[in-house]
Amino acid sequence: MADLSTKYMGLDLANPIIVGSSGLTDSVEGVGKCAEAGAGAVVLKSIFEEQIVGEVDKLVDASGPAYWHSQAAEYITRYGRENAVERYLDLIRGAKEAVSVPVIASIHCVSAGAWTEFAQRVEQVGADGLELNIFVLPADPRIDGRTNEQIYLDVAKAVKQKVKIPVALKIGSFFSGLANLALALGVDIDALVLFNRFARVDFDTEKLSLKPASFLSSPDEMVVPLRWISILSGQIACDLAATTGVHDGEAVVKQLLAGAAAVQVCSALYKNGVGHIGTMLDGLRDWMGRHEFPSVADFRGRMSQTESLKPGAYERVQFMKASTGGS
Ligand SMILES: Cc1cc2nc3c(=O)[nH]c(=O)nc-3n(C[C@H](O)[C@H](O)[C@H](O)COP(=O)(O)O)c2cc1C
Repeated sequence: MADLSTKYMGLDLANPIIVGSSGLTDSVEGVGKCAEAGAGAVVLKSIFEEQIVGEVDKLVDASGPAYWHSQAAEYITRYGRENAVERYLDLIRGAKEAVSVPVIASIHCVSAGAWTEFAQRVEQVGADGLELNIFVLPADPRIDGRTNEQIYLDVAKAVKQKVKIPVALKIGSFFSGLANLALALGVDIDALVLFNRFARVDFDTEKLSLKPASFLSSPDEMVVPLRWISILSGQIACDLAATTGVHDGEAVVKQLLAGAAAVQVCSALYKNGVGHIGTMLDGLRDWMGRHEFPSVADFRGRMSQTESLKPGAYERVQFMKASTGGS
């Protein structure tokens, strides 16, 4: 029997598949279904910083419906704007009572402001861990990269000072010095989740208006976190989890080979139902059997930069071959 267990951000998981923060985990019932389907852990739907500090109206006015982040739009339409904090704490309590897998709460934030006190309440009601989804789009040309990055470092420090439960940071890939930032963040936090999938905006060329692009990922998006997990694995102090584009057992294998301690899955479950977790686990077990790896620990990180060839050099050679007509 293959041993699929893994340790992620200090938590013991029976297997590395975590259901990512989404509408799949916004109710006790949904969390129960994920656990029943075999998830190793769940990340609850995020509560937003603006809801914790009671500034939802400002958020709504500032962004306008067409530009809403998909996650904000879903939250606000489904939860309403009242009593968000109490309802969120109830969700944590209910999920903890309902399932035995680790329950990780999630806060979607943009600053290291007053909301960070709320992290203590999350801990008090029993969450096993806390994931922070930080959303600072570096779109303002007057703000330099260092200033934007400092927000991530400040949030990590502020929250870690307030709680004892493990803290993960889910970040995007838009940094000029990603590896350097990851190194600095890894000192304070317990895990980095790579990468947040930002809402994509498309143009409607008939109506000359904005329209949302697909909320769901496609499997080929998995190569971006794969690349960075293989680069960062073994170089930073905290665990790594992959998110975006993990749709099947083979993708799970790849991310583990790169050095991820766990993967997070959403789109594949929206497309195929939560029962797809079982299919993904079968794929992982089947691969481990064929390659005679008794446990995840036996192969995790085998293809990280520190264990194998340098991805940077490899990529450059592939690009040179392709652009000069080599094979
Ligand atoms: C409908 C929907 C709602 C989501 N809500 C949240 C959220 O509240 N907080 C968060 O951190 N991520 C949220 N996400 C992002 C997912 O957790 C995940 O990072 C992203 O979908 C990429 O993973 P995937 O390719 O497996 O879907 C949401 C995704 C979807 C599709």
